[in-house]
Amino acid sequence: MKKYLIGNWKMNKTLQEATEFIKYLLPQLEAIKKDIDNSSLNLMLAPSFVHLFPINELIYNDSFIQLAAQNCHHETQGAFTGEVSATMLASVGVDCVIIGHSERRIYQKETNDLLLSKIKKVLAAGMRPLLCCGESMEQRNAGEHKAAVHQQLKESLIDLTPLEIQKLLIAYEPVWAIGTGQVASLEVVVEMHDFIRNILSDQYDILSDQYDRLGEQVPILYGGSCNPKNAGAIFGCPNVNGGLIGSAALQADHFMEIITALLKA
Ligand code: PGA
Repeated sequence: MKKYLIGNWKMNKTLQEATEFIKYLLPQLEAIKKDIDNSSLNLMLAPSFVHLFPINELIYNDSFIQLAAQNCHHETQGAFTGEVSATMLASVGVDCVIIGHSERRIYQKETNDLLLSKIKKVLAAGMRPLLCCGESMEQRNAGEHKAAVHQQLKESLIDLTPLEIQKLLIAYEPVWAIGTGQVASLEVVVEMHDFIRNILSDQYDILSDQYDRLGEQVPILYGGSCNPKNAGAIFGCPNVNGGLIGSAALQADHFMEIITALLKA
């Protein structure tokens, strides 16, 4: 299976800082081009909306990096002041949209139903949705972590067709591990990625004879305090097909170290 690494810059970086980062990163990626090709690594950056177009201009002729957006609106178009539609994102060269990041679930009160609408809009615009799931510490302490993740996946992926499932990416991001420096133990990573893989296989492997083992083909990324030190061990776990990286993706050197760790995994 392909490997995926996505740097989520959240609400960080001016245009100048973003440009410097890209200009610094590109020659380093060029130097390891063969390794990237050999391990079919899909590398993406998710800058703020306003930087998507200028960054796309910078990476336009470069196949190493693709563009991801951090969110989109759930309606196609219309009177939604301040919002950005999936079609708009596709029109500036975005390949993938992060949907349901826990910061949006918490601060913007995004629900599983709403996320399903967003996923549909992303797919209709020809892009790939990356659905984030993950339990809170309270849910884990109450032994409800699996039920919580199951519900998120069930309610946000209902009704997707086999063709749509082929475009889907999932990120397992335990809420307590995001931006806290408290990375999930390898035991938790293995437990939850295995659990998510089983849900996807149970739900989609039998969907259609035409598509071989559909649920097994969906990439599952880990996210939450992943850094250059712990990345290698996490990426070595079964059913971990890459990472969604927050703070460690803000510094080009750290991001490069994580890329190298994934290439070696
Ligand atoms: P973090 O963020 O790597 O800073 O924990 C991950 C994410 O929010 O996707």
